[in-house]
Amino acid sequence: MKTFLETIRAIVTFLLVQTGLFQLSNVANDELIPRALLFSNPERSEAKLSPDGLYIAFLAPNDRGVQNIWMQQTNATVEPIQLTFDNGRGILDYHWTYKPNVLVFSQDNDGDENFMLFKLDVSDKQKLQPEAISAQPGVQAVVLAFSNQQMNKLIIGANDENPTYHSIYEFDLTTNQKQRIFTNSRFDVEDMLFDNDLNLRVAGQATDDGGKAYYRPSDSANRRSLTSSTSDWTLYTTVAAEDYEITKPILFSLDNNQIYWIWGPGSDLGRLAVHPFGRPNENRYIYSPQKTEISLSTMFIHPRDKTVLAVLEAYHKQEIKILNDTVRADFDYLQGMKTDGIPLISDTSEDFMTWLVVYNSDQYPLEYWLYDRRQRTLRFLFSKQPQLKGKSVARMHGVTVTARDGLLIPCYLSIPPTVRVIIRFIVSVVFVSQPS
Ligand SMILES: *[C@@H]1O[C@H](CO)[C@@H](O)[C@H](O)[C@H]1NC(C)=O
Ligand SMILES: *[C@@H]1O[C@H](CO)[C@@H](O)[C@H](O)[C@H]1NC(C)=O
Repeated sequence: MKTFLETIRAIVTFLLVQTGLFQLSNVANDELIPRALLFSNPERSEAKLSPDGLYIAFLAPNDRGVQNIWMQQTNATVEPIQLTFDNGRGILDYHWTYKPNVLVFSQDNDGDENFMLFKLDVSDKQKLQPEAISAQPGVQAVVLAFSNQQMNKLIIGANDENPTYHSIYEFDLTTNQKQRIFTNSRFDVEDMLFDNDLNLRVAGQATDDGGKAYYRPSDSANRRSLTSSTSDWTLYTTVAAEDYEITKPILFSLDNNQIYWIWGPGSDLGRLAVHPFGRPNENRYIYSPQKTEISLSTMFIHPRDKTVLAVLEAYHKQEIKILNDTVRADFDYLQGMKTDGIPLISDTSEDFMTWLVVYNSDQYPLEYWLYDRRQRTLRFLFSKQPQLKGKSVARMHGVTVTARDGLLIPCYLSIPPTVRVIIRFIVSVVFVSQPS
C-alpha cells in the first residue's frame, strides 16, 4: 500500500502535469509580456524626498538611456528637471544632505567601483555644477553618515592611504574643506557607527575565531584625529562567530547616550535592543522578530526624535509591526487607501509631515505616492515601470517546505495567472490532508 506521502506526491505530480497542460492550452489567451519590457530600465527609480519636503529626486534615463538624477517639486505637477548630465555609465547612487538644496552623488569609471563623490547644489537650475568631494583616480570613496544636527557636514570613507581600509574624513558642505578624522588600517567601514554629532563611536573588527570584536574610542584618544593604535581603542563587546551576522550597532538616541543594536546572543534572529552607551549588559529588548532577521533598513525611525516607530518583517510577505502608537493611524490610513499593496515608508521630511510611500505588490510595479500627514491625503507620484501597468502578472504564493533535516525553507510559487484555480486546489489538498 502506498504511504500517505506517496499518495500526496502522486496527486501533486498529477496536478502539476495537469497544470502544465492547462497552461499550454491557455497561453494563447494570455498576453505574454515582451521580454524587453520586463527587463528594461525602470522609467523612474530610487526616488528620495529632500529633508525639507520640497523636492523629490529620482534616477531616470536621459535621451541616450543613461541613468541620471532628476528632480521635481512635491507641491506642483510641473515637469521634472534633469540635474546631472552623465553620458557614461550613469549615476548609481545619490543622497540628499541636510543642507537645503544640496545632494551628493557617486560615479565610478566604467564599473571599476572606485567611486568618486560629488556635491551638487540645486538651488539655481541654470547653474548645475557638480563639485568634487573625492575624485582621485583609483580611490574608492563612500558616504558614511549625515545628521540633521550637523547639517553642513558629511562623513565619508576613502581608501586613499591604504587600499584595504578606508580612512575617515569630515567634509564641510559649505566650505568644501575636507579633514581626516581617523587614519584607519584596522576596521571595515560597514562596521562603524557615528552618533548624531557625527562622532565615530563604535567600530568592529573580525576576530581570529570568526566572530567580531567591537571597540569604542578610548578616553585618551583624540576624537578629531583617531589612529588604529591599540591605545586609541577600548573593547566594547565581543560577538561569537554564530552571532556576528545578527549583531550590529545601528542607531543612537537623540541625546547620543543610548545606543540601539540588533543583538544576536540569546536568540536565533537577533533582537532590537537598546542600552546606555558602553553598558551592553543593561540591554533592554524592544522587539524580537518572529520570522526573519531585521536591520536598520527595515526599521522606520522618527527623523528628529530617533525613536523606532515600526519594523518590517519580510517572510513570505512583508509585514509591518508597529512599535509606537503615534503612527498607527497613519499606517491604517495608508493600508486602507490601497489594500493590494504594502505601504513602505521610503523617506520622511524632517518635520515628519511629508512621507514618500512606496507601495509594494505582486500585482504591479513599485508605485511612489506622497502622503501629507497634516491633511491626511495621499497623492500618486509615479510608477517604477509604468509600461508594465495593467499587464496580467503571476501572483506570488508563499510556501514553506520542510527540509530533510526538519528545518523550514520559505519558498515562493509563481504560476501563470490562468492556472490560479488549480493551484488553490493543490494547496488545499496538501494542507487539508496533512497528517497531524
Ligand atoms: C511650491 O513650492 C515652491 C518652493 O517652496 C514655491 O516657490 C511655490 O510657490 C510652491 N508652489 C505651489 C503651487 O504651491
Ligand atoms: C513614540 O514616538 C514619539 C514620536 O517620536 C515619541 O515622542 C515617543 O517618545 C515614542 N514613544 C515611545 C514609547 O518610544
